[in-house]
Amino acid sequence: MKKFLGLLLVIVTALFGLAACANGNPNGDDKGGNEQTGGSGEIKNPPATASEILVAYFSCTNTTQGIAEHIQAETKGTLYEILPQVPYTSADLNYNTDCRANREQNNSSARPAIKGSVENLEKYDVVFVGYPIWWGQAPKIIYTFLESHDFSGKTIIPFCTSHSSGIGSSDTNLHSLAPNAKWVSGRRFSSGTSQKTVADWIKGLDL
Ligand SMILES: Cc1cc2nc3c(=O)[nH]c(=O)nc-3n(C[C@H](O)[C@H](O)[C@H](O)COP(=O)(O)O)c2cc1C
Repeated sequence: MKKFLGLLLVIVTALFGLAACANGNPNGDDKGGNEQTGGSGEIKNPPATASEILVAYFSCTNTTQGIAEHIQAETKGTLYEILPQVPYTSADLNYNTDCRANREQNNSSARPAIKGSVENLEKYDVVFVGYPIWWGQAPKIIYTFLESHDFSGKTIIPFCTSHSSGIGSSDTNLHSLAPNAKWVSGRRFSSGTSQKTVADWIKGLDL
């Protein structure tokens, strides 16, 4: 009889153990959410948006800003506008003249000053960097932005807008300004690009 009771106890204990494991949690405690760990301690089902995302952009006439807002809505990241210390007037952008924007683009050492800087940059894993194409390249203020922050170990994803030019070499020419970042190929968008187009692009990035 004693032997039988002992055996029964072993079976009941084993059944409880099995029920706990079927719950996906070897400790048997239900912590909720989807961050359950296996016996080895790895996260089996990480949350869909595990990365902290910053969406930094420069925009003079709001086209790039519109794309940045789509990216923000899709990723739930933090929007950050790169603001020039001296704002660009429409005369500064009149590229048919010897305007400020043209002069900056023609001067390899031009680094227009930025107002402020990104707070707590260290908490971001992924940084989208958006800009309008100016004469086939990123505006020099993007160079200032990249050189004045430490992007080591972060993933940088460039995006741009233009009248008609493609992204060309404008993204790869930025790589040397943040050499310790992991650079992803950029993408150019036209004005009026839909939220869905941006969403499909982001899905393909596998963030
Ligand atoms: C100085 C300057 C140069 C430009 N160069 C180009 C160019 O090379 N190719 C192009 O398709 N559009 C060019 N554009 C147009 C802008 O890229 C386009 O209007 C962009 O979407 C504006 O973005 P934003 O509204 O965010 O400032 C240029 C605009 C300016 C002001």
